[in-house]
Amino acid sequence: MEILKKLNIESINQGACTGADQWSHGKDLGELESFNPVNEQLIAKVKRASAQDYEHVVQTAHKTFLEWRKVPAPKRGELVRQMGEVLRKNKDALGSLVSLEMGKSKQEGDGEVQEMIDMADFAVGQARMLYGLTMHSERPEHRMYEQWHPLGVIGVISAFNFPVAVWAWNAFIAAICGNTVIWKPSSKTPLCAVAVQHLCNQVMQANGYSGIFNLFISDDNLLVDNLVNDHRVPLISFTGSTAVGRKVNEKVASRLGRCLLELGGNNAIIVDETANLDLAMRAIAFGAAGTAGQRCTTTRRLFVQETIHDDLLKRLVQIYKQLRIGDPLEAGVLVGPLVDRKAVNDYKKTIEEIHAMKGEIVFGGNVLKREGFFVEPTIVRAKPDWAVVHRETFAPILYVMKYQKIEEAIAWHNAVPQGLSSAMFTNHVQHSEMFLSAAGSDCGIANINIGTSGAEIGGAFGGEKETGGGREAGSDSWKAYMRRQTNTINWGNTLPLAQGIKFEV
Ligand code: UN1
Repeated sequence: MEILKKLNIESINQGACTGADQWSHGKDLGELESFNPVNEQLIAKVKRASAQDYEHVVQTAHKTFLEWRKVPAPKRGELVRQMGEVLRKNKDALGSLVSLEMGKSKQEGDGEVQEMIDMADFAVGQARMLYGLTMHSERPEHRMYEQWHPLGVIGVISAFNFPVAVWAWNAFIAAICGNTVIWKPSSKTPLCAVAVQHLCNQVMQANGYSGIFNLFISDDNLLVDNLVNDHRVPLISFTGSTAVGRKVNEKVASRLGRCLLELGGNNAIIVDETANLDLAMRAIAFGAAGTAGQRCTTTRRLFVQETIHDDLLKRLVQIYKQLRIGDPLEAGVLVGPLVDRKAVNDYKKTIEEIHAMKGEIVFGGNVLKREGFFVEPTIVRAKPDWAVVHRETFAPILYVMKYQKIEEAIAWHNAVPQGLSSAMFTNHVQHSEMFLSAAGSDCGIANINIGTSGAEIGGAFGGEKETGGGREAGSDSWKAYMRRQTNTINWGNTLPLAQGIKFEV
C-alpha cells in the first residue's frame, strides 16, 4: 500500500523502539493486527512489545534523560523544530494513515497532523520561555527565585481517536522541558504510532540522538502496568476513558507519582433565543457527527430554548440528511466508521436503552447494513435526567432537550459527572457572561458562538470532575512536565533566619 511505503511501514513492524535501527528484539509475543474500520480488512501487523522490550526502553529513556536535561532548552527546541519540519513534509501521508487506520475523514486526519505541527511550533517558542518568578526575600542580602527543572522519563498513554496529535501535545512539550518520553499508543492504532516513531528516529538520528522519543506497543494491561507502576517514570499522561483513567490514577498515586488525566467528556451546547442559528447549526453538526462522535470534545447534549426548539430541530435533521457517510479517504465524506465492532455494539446498546425508555429518535438510530463499522449519526429528543444522557457513549448520538429559562439550562448543563468542553450560542451579553462566570459552565473549556470540539492548541486543554483535571498543549501546561525548585541565596556575611527567629550559639 502506497501510504504505508511512504511512511516506512512494513507488513510486520516491531512494537518497541528507542531510535533509528533500534527496534525491539525481546521475547516473541506474536502480532497485533490493525484493521481498516471501513471494510474490516487487515492493514498490517505489529509485533507486541515484551517485558524485556519495556525494560530496554525505560533504561534507554532514562540514560538519555541524564544527558538531555543538560542540553540548553532552546537547543532542545531546535530538535522539536525539526520534528515540525518532517511532519510538514509528511502531512499528507500521515493524515491519510490516520484516516485509514482510525476512520476519521481525510480532512480531519490532515487536521490532526496540522495540530502536531502547530504544537511543534508552539513548543519551539516555549523552549525560550520556561520562566520562573523572582521574589523579594525578607532577609537582607538574600535573593530568592524559582526555577523549573525537567522531571525525567514521561509515560504517554494515548487513545485511538487522536492517534498522533495527543502524543505530540505531550511529547513536544515534555522534550523541550528536558524530559524523555515513552509512548504507549492505543493498540487500535499501532500503525500511526509506528509511522510517527519513524519520523522521530529520522530527526533523532540527524542530531546524533536516540532515546528521547521511545515507543512501546502492547495490548496487555499487565505489561502496560510496568510503565504505570514504574518509579523511574515520574509522570504518566493518560488519555482515555474515565474508568481506565481512574485505575491508572490510583496506581500512580499509590507510588506518589504524578498523573495528567484527559478522560471522558459529555459536552453540551446551549442555544438561546437570540442565537445566530446558521452558526449554531454548523457547530452542532461538526461537534456531534464529526469524527463519528469519537472526540472527547464531541457535542453530546444540546439545550435549546423552547421558542426556537422545533425550528432548530427541523433544520438539524435537514443537515443530518446531507451528511455523507462512507470511506473517510474519499473526497466529500464527512462521517467515517466507528473504530471497531465493540464501538458499534456500545452504540447499539445505547440506542436500545433509548427505545426501552420510549425515547423519540428524530434521526438515525441504525447500524448501516454494509461492511465496516458504520452507524447513523443520531438525534434523540431527550430528558436531562435520563441515565444515557449522563453517560459518555463514544458514538454520534446527540440528545436534544428543551429549556425555558437560561438558569435552568446552565443547571442541567452542569448536572453530569464530566466537565470537559461546553458552549453557548447567544447574542445576549447577560447570558454569555453568566455562562462564563464562576457560577456558569463548570467545564475546563467554555466557548461562546463556537462549538465544543476543535480547540486550538494555544490554550490549555482539559477538563474538570471526571474528566480528570489535567491540562495539556498550550498556555502554561508545560509546568506539568517540570518540577519547581525554590532557591534562596545568601550573598551577605551574616545568617539571619526567616520569621525573625534567633538561634544564637
Ligand atoms: C480528544 O478527543 O482527545 O478540541 C482531543 C478538539 C481536538 C482535540 C480532541 N483539538 O476536538
